[in-house]
Amino acid sequence: MLIDKFGRQITYARIAVTDRCNLRCFYCMPENAMHFLPRKDLLTYEEMERLSKILTDEGVTKIRITGGEPFVRRDLIHFLTNLRKNTKLKELHITTNGVLTEQYLDQLKSINISSINLSLDTLDEARFLEITRRDEFTNVMSTFNAILYHNIPLKVNMVAMKGKNEDDIVEMAELSLSHPISVRFIEEMPFNGSNEDHGLISYQEILDILSSKFGELSKIQDPENSTAYHYKIPGSKGNLGIIAAYTRSFCGTCNRIRITPEGVMKNCLYDGGGLNLRTLLRDGSSDRDIAEALQTAILNKHKDGHLAEANRDKSTFESMSSIGG
Ligand code: GTP
Ligand code: 5AD
Ligand code: SF4
Repeated sequence: MLIDKFGRQITYARIAVTDRCNLRCFYCMPENAMHFLPRKDLLTYEEMERLSKILTDEGVTKIRITGGEPFVRRDLIHFLTNLRKNTKLKELHITTNGVLTEQYLDQLKSINISSINLSLDTLDEARFLEITRRDEFTNVMSTFNAILYHNIPLKVNMVAMKGKNEDDIVEMAELSLSHPISVRFIEEMPFNGSNEDHGLISYQEILDILSSKFGELSKIQDPENSTAYHYKIPGSKGNLGIIAAYTRSFCGTCNRIRITPEGVMKNCLYDGGGLNLRTLLRDGSSDRDIAEALQTAILNKHKDGHLAEANRDKSTFESMSSIGG
């Protein structure tokens, strides 16, 4: 089992399969001058499968595939199909921007994907272009509708930003009225690949905007280890979630690690460095060696994201696409 020094057991691994993306969301990366990793620096699918097996042998039961945009990596669907053969893996989820996703939904359904988290920051086509710098709104909405049609559990992720899309919050929340989905509002985190200031709308401000429109929301039970606090508009089919990703009020129950596209294990989104698993996967280390290295590294997990941030090198500016969210 993978347990940190505060007694938190790691049961959830987020694996970023690429740092590349077909959108250029300004809260995630600059428009130009992104330096993507050369292919040789990415973990191969075989390496990620081996790692997943080591992780599930150590008690991980949930894996989320992230990126960048996972579907820009060739043959992702075969990798997912192989991961699904691991019977110790109870849940396999994916976070995607929905640009290329629709064509894979039949296959995702047939491997029983546990859920899809779809990034969507506005329902306005022009604003979508402003935020993502790419004209893909129609494709993403088509994916949204097709996920519902396929009956795959769906969560929508909206990064809420002051002066950018705060007036979309109500319309996005209304998606939960007639659809059995979770619409989640996320505090913006400082991982846009530069030191540009970010326009935080806090958890409380998001809640105030929602309450002033819909009246007092009912607080509903949060799943164990959830980063989102859940609410419901009375009578709605779905629910609302608010993720205090910047305020970081949920670290006490953190059960997750992340693997970056180049194979670094990060104990926290806010950590600067981490354990280089790629070296171990390529230098003849055994599965046991790798499990032990993971265990040792996890003992160094900080108590919370604030302490992790305080201990990172402040002179480098990461993009969320190279961490995996
Ligand atoms: P579920 O498994 O459905 O709960 O999804 P998730 O929230 O773990 O994953 P998703 O990829 O949809 O991430 C949604 C938002 O939560 C993103 O902005 C992530 O960066 C943020 N997030 C996910 N995990 C963490 C975390 O451990 N700490 C912080 N601060 N933010 C996180
Ligand atoms: N702050 C908060 N969330 C972000 N995401 C990407 N960049 C940021 C950021 N700077 C979100 C994406 C995706 C999830 C994995 O992380 O929108 O839904
Ligand atoms: Fe875990 Fe760090 Fe996220 Fe807190 S900020 S929940 S410690 S990954």
